[in-house]
Amino acid sequence: MAAITDVLSIKPFSRREIEAILDLSETFEDFARGKKESNLLASKVLCTLFYEPSTRTRLSFESAILRLGGKLMSVADAMTTSSAWKGESLGDTVRTIENYADVIAIRHPVAGSAEEAAKYASIPILNAGDDANEHPTQALLDLLTIRRERRRIDGLRIAVVGDHKYSRVTKSLSYALANYDVNVILVNPPALALSRDVLEDVKRGRATFEETDDIQKALGKADVVYIFRIQKERLPASEYERVKGAYVIDRAMLEKVGREITVMHPMPRIDELSEDVDSYPGACYFRQSFNGVMVRMALLALVLGKAKI
Ligand code: NCD
Repeated sequence: MAAITDVLSIKPFSRREIEAILDLSETFEDFARGKKESNLLASKVLCTLFYEPSTRTRLSFESAILRLGGKLMSVADAMTTSSAWKGESLGDTVRTIENYADVIAIRHPVAGSAEEAAKYASIPILNAGDDANEHPTQALLDLLTIRRERRRIDGLRIAVVGDHKYSRVTKSLSYALANYDVNVILVNPPALALSRDVLEDVKRGRATFEETDDIQKALGKADVVYIFRIQKERLPASEYERVKGAYVIDRAMLEKVGREITVMHPMPRIDELSEDVDSYPGACYFRQSFNGVMVRMALLALVLGKAKI
């Protein structure tokens, strides 16, 4: 398979490449848990360049490089603490950072920023989320989570409940799932539907996609439910007022189905997933955020030429 130099979008990855990345990720489990030590990325420096808030994505990238023996420069609030605040362009910023680091994980509030950074940088760029566009490393950890929780991906019915209009998570996940023989049920209030262009695009793959606004009905058909928050910071305020609280999953809704469903959430959770689900046997969102460390270890090793698929 061709060497992976950047991870900007999930779209260019074939099913074979995705499976190989997930297999490689699994080999890092003991290192991700701190049970074994590794020097695989010794002498390598990761810069996490985050212009938007993050807990899991930034810290799991940082855990990944540190647990593989590498080093880290963390810019957690680049909008106010880097020269972006003075008006420096992204191109100039990344051409500076490449003098100090070997790889950059970037999160940015403008769609296309990771690609823009990659145009200028001679070191690998990993897209950690660019506005409502893509979040490819999240999609990979989501697939790994489905595979670990359900032992397979093909054949599953996956309900994805949320703000498909403004979320990058659902776009990358939809493109990733399009490589599998799955039935994806997109659940959302009509105002938060997935863009028609993206829907048409993903429908060209192996998965089938349907849409509904009836959560309970979708749960009744699903093996996996993936729920995520309304992207408040990306919605015009008046639009947010109309849709806030529009969907919620609680334990009673899951119990009503009468069989165990795998419950995923990229986090952060606001009010769409009740805390009474945390003790439900299928709830796996904290395991899901652990899986991010393994996937990001694999991606760092790949783009730094220290692993092959
Ligand atoms: C997501 C994101 O930043 O897009 N969080 C994450 O990376 N785990 C989801 C969200 O913010 O809703």
